Amino acid sequence: MSNPAQIILDGKTFELPVIEGSENEKAIDIGKLRDLTGYITYDVGYKNTGVTKSAITFLDGEEGILRYRGYPIEQLAEKSNFLEVAYLLIYGDLPTKEQYAAFDKSIDDHSMIHEDVKTILHGFPSYAHPMGVLSSLICSLTAFYPESLNPNASEKTINDSIIRLIAKMPTMVAWAYKKSKGRPVNYPIRSLEYCANFMHMMFADPTEIYEVDPVVSDALNKLLILHADHEQNCSTSTVRIVGSSQASLYGSISAGINALWGPLHGGANQEVIEMLDQIKNDGGDTKKWIAKAKDKNDPFRLMGFGHRVYKNFDPRAKIIKKACDDILHKLGVNDPVLAIAKELEQAALNDEYFVERKLYPNVDFYSGIIYRALGIPTNMFTVMFALGRLPGWIAQWKELRNTKEPIGRPRQVYIGEKTRDYVSMVDRG
Ligand code: CMC
Repeated sequence: MSNPAQIILDGKTFELPVIEGSENEKAIDIGKLRDLTGYITYDVGYKNTGVTKSAITFLDGEEGILRYRGYPIEQLAEKSNFLEVAYLLIYGDLPTKEQYAAFDKSIDDHSMIHEDVKTILHGFPSYAHPMGVLSSLICSLTAFYPESLNPNASEKTINDSIIRLIAKMPTMVAWAYKKSKGRPVNYPIRSLEYCANFMHMMFADPTEIYEVDPVVSDALNKLLILHADHEQNCSTSTVRIVGSSQASLYGSISAGINALWGPLHGGANQEVIEMLDQIKNDGGDTKKWIAKAKDKNDPFRLMGFGHRVYKNFDPRAKIIKKACDDILHKLGVNDPVLAIAKELEQAALNDEYFVERKLYPNVDFYSGIIYRALGIPTNMFTVMFALGRLPGWIAQWKELRNTKEPIGRPRQVYIGEKTRDYVSMVDRG
């Protein structure tokens, strides 16, 4: 037990408990601060605020460490597959052979979608962004499975909702893509493993048998694992805060998808490839674009650079950079933006502006190049991020529910008008 923290306010000393995590992370518990002192804490953007105690993901931004349930991301990305990692995140431990087989089977059993969902899908114009389509389809599950709305549902009902979500998400993602192409949707195939089945639903032509290249499904497994959880980021906090009102799992995840969509979060992977294409089409002068990113009068930012918590390197970016080279080589793809990406990275890493601000390539700097090599179109990149992040969101929602966390409700410092009397419009002139 650590010594309490002391805070001196208006000449009086107050003591606040200090809590410690399993990796020696320390926090001052300010839960009683307002009752004791009348003060609240102020931290715009939650830059230094812990909102929960969590046993799911450990991240050390200074050391570049990321572990799911204690397992280093490097080992999981190399040796595991996405479904196994999903199980680990949601249920807390790696599955035994039997547990994995049962989990895999239940995912196969629930991968079909109610045919009426197609009516909703067809209501969207073909140019709708697939992130909007996906969040709507996920939320529509509340209509097909109304028992999921009950905050006091049994553990079995909750687990059924979890399985349905993991099982139906790839089908919905692929259908959102097919919709944007105006093509008929494909149904899931039980005999295919998760990633191969997903690629089948995305790309199979009804008139041919689709062969999934194992290099492609391996690459996809790796990308999804790297995105599977990232502790209390913007979309995960959204899932938790929506879930804290006892909203359903489907409603909470749908909200998380919308939070992920923004260009500062998951939307960055789409922005990175668009930026690289723009630089290429503009003649490939990386110095010019670095200068733009540094110019405070120019809104341009180097997308795929910087991270709120990683201040030395993003361990996921390290893995992905190597994977990118391997996959492009194995698939025989020569993407000219890869050379621009490497040049940009080198230039930025040696530039005082980026070094001073600890701005390094993040996970999304190279992920788009891999997605493109796998044949996935640019406007689907953030949807792919959502597919990967799903088990993390579910695990966090489940943890919040199991620990009976109270509703999330931050406070504020009000800086508006003081009280004033209403004057009728006639008198206001
Ligand atoms: N290009 C140029 N300058 C930057 C960049 C960038 N990509 N990122 C941060 N800065 C500058 C920023 O202008 C500020 O400079 P100054 O101190 O002179 O005002 C300083 O660095 C700190 O930036 P910040 O916006 O206060 O940092 P933050 O922690 O609030 O934001 C971030 C983190 C990821 C939103 C930001 O670095 C960024 O916008 N990056 C580009 C978008 C991106 O790649 N996002 C994906 C993140 S990884 C995927 C995920 O997990 O979501």
